[in-house]
Amino acid sequence: MLLTSLLLAAAALASLASAQSVNEPEKGKLYLGAWLDTADSASGAGDGDRPTLAIKRMGYNLHAFQYAQNIPIDTYPFPIEQIEATGLDALVFLTVYPRPSPWNITDDQIANLTAICGKINKQGRRIVLRFGPEMNGPWNYYGQAPLKFIALWKRVFTALRRDAPATALVWAPSSGSGYPFGTPTAATLGQDEFNALDTNKDGAITAADDAYTPYYPGDDFVDWVGLSAYYYGPQYPWEDNVIPPAGTFEKLINVNGFYQNFAVAKNKPMLIAETAAAFHTNTPKGNGDGEFAVKQAFWRQYLTNATFLDQYERIKLISLFEFKKYEEKLSNGQDDLRDFRITNNSQILTAFMQDFAAVKSRYIESVPLSPSATLPSAIVPTTGTGSNKNAALGHSKAGVSFASLVALAGLLLQSVF
Ligand SMILES: *[C@@H]1O[C@H](CO)[C@@H](O)[C@H](O)[C@H]1NC(C)=O
Ligand SMILES: *[C@@H]1O[C@H](CO)[C@@H](O)[C@H](O)[C@H]1NC(C)=O
Ligand SMILES: *[C@@H]1O[C@H](CO)[C@@H](O)[C@H](O)[C@H]1NC(C)=O
Ligand SMILES: *[C@@H]1O[C@H](CO)[C@@H](O)[C@H](O)[C@H]1NC(C)=O
Repeated sequence: MLLTSLLLAAAALASLASAQSVNEPEKGKLYLGAWLDTADSASGAGDGDRPTLAIKRMGYNLHAFQYAQNIPIDTYPFPIEQIEATGLDALVFLTVYPRPSPWNITDDQIANLTAICGKINKQGRRIVLRFGPEMNGPWNYYGQAPLKFIALWKRVFTALRRDAPATALVWAPSSGSGYPFGTPTAATLGQDEFNALDTNKDGAITAADDAYTPYYPGDDFVDWVGLSAYYYGPQYPWEDNVIPPAGTFEKLINVNGFYQNFAVAKNKPMLIAETAAAFHTNTPKGNGDGEFAVKQAFWRQYLTNATFLDQYERIKLISLFEFKKYEEKLSNGQDDLRDFRITNNSQILTAFMQDFAAVKSRYIESVPLSPSATLPSAIVPTTGTGSNKNAALGHSKAGVSFASLVALAGLLLQSVF
C-alpha cells in the first residue's frame, strides 16, 4: 500500500519533471498577462498605467506583467514594486536587451542581473526572462550575430540556474516573415557569422535560409520559446482599419513552421510575447471597419477561442500589448498613432471580458502571494521611469515561500530523473 502510493507519487513527479519547463502552467492551462504603458512621461499617449490599475479595470487578476530593461543595468532596474503593489503571485515577464555593447558584457554584469532575479525568486515570485528578443533582425545591437549571441546566451543561462532557479529563460526571435530583413553580407556580419546564417550554403543570406535555427542556443539552454504576433492591417502601408481575415493569428505563429518546430517538436512552452491588433487612429483611410470590430475579430481568433487554444496547447502565456503609440509613417507622411489597447475603452473591454468568460477557466488567474516578504532594498530603483516605490511595501512576513519550494523541488527532480 505504502509502496504503491510511493511508486504512484514517484511516477507523477517523474512525468511532471519530464513534461514541464520552469514556470510552465499545468497541461490545458495558460496565463494571461500584459505589457502596460507604465512610463510617466508628460507627452505619452496613455501612459502612467500600472498593474493594479489594469487589474481593477478588467476585474481580473492578470498573471504576468511585462517590463523591459537593459544589461548592463544602466539607469535603473525595472520597477518591481509596481508588481509587488498588486499583492498577487503574478509572474514578472522581464524583457532584457543586451546593449549598447552586447559582446563585452562581463560576468559581473550578468551576475548583477541574475542576483536581482534570485532575490525576487526568493520572495516566491517567478520570472520569465526574455533575453535578447528579435536576435534574428538587424535592428538590434545584438542582431544577426548567432555565434556571439549564443555564447552570451549560455553565460546568462548558467548564471540564472546558479542564482535564480525560479526564472525561466525565453528564446524569442522575430517572426521569419521578411527575413533576412535586408541583404546582410560577410563584410557586414563577419565571415563566421555569415557562414552560420547561410544555412543552404548558396553563398548568400536570403529568405531561403532558416530564419530561426542558427540563433537557437539548444534544447538544454532554453526553457520557453516565444514570438510576437501583431495585426496591422491587410497590406502595406499599414493604415487600413480592416477586420483581419480568418486565420490571421494562426498564420503569424506558424511562419517558417515556428510553432511546430520549436514549441511542439522541442516540447517547449511557448509565450506570445507581444500581441494586439492595431487601430490606426489618424489614418487618411478613416475608421474603416472600426476599432471595436477589428480588435474583437482578432482576439476571437486566439485569446478567447476554445478550439484554437485546444489546438495550440503549447501556448502557455499571452501578453497583451497595451500601448497607444506612434510607429512608422502613414502614406501621407504623418506618424501613425496606433492604439493597440483592449482594456482602455470601456465598450471594447466589456466585450472582451464577455468573450473571455467562455474560456476563463483555462487561464490561471493570479492569487495573493503568500507568504510574502519585504522587498529587498537593493532592487528598489532610486531613479527612472514609472517608479512608484511607496505603493509596494504592504507586507513583511519573512520565510521560504511555497513557490520557491516548488521551484527547488523541480530542480531536484530534474537532477534525479
Ligand atoms: C485610456 O487612455 C487615456 C489616454 O489615452 C487615459 O487618459 C485614460 O485614463 C484611459 N482610461 C482607462 C480606463 O484606462
Ligand atoms: C565593446 O566592444 C566593442 C566592439 O564590439 C568595442 O568597440 C568597444 O570599445 C568595447 N567597449 C568597451 C567598454 O570595452
Ligand atoms: C550591481 O552592480 C552595481 C554596480 O557595480 C552594484 O552597486 C550593485 O550592488 C549590483 N547589484 C547587485 C544586485 O548585484
Ligand atoms: C477559432 O479557432 C479555430 C481553430 O484555429 C478556427 O478554425 C476558427 O475560425 C476560430 N474562430 C474565429 C472566430 O476566428
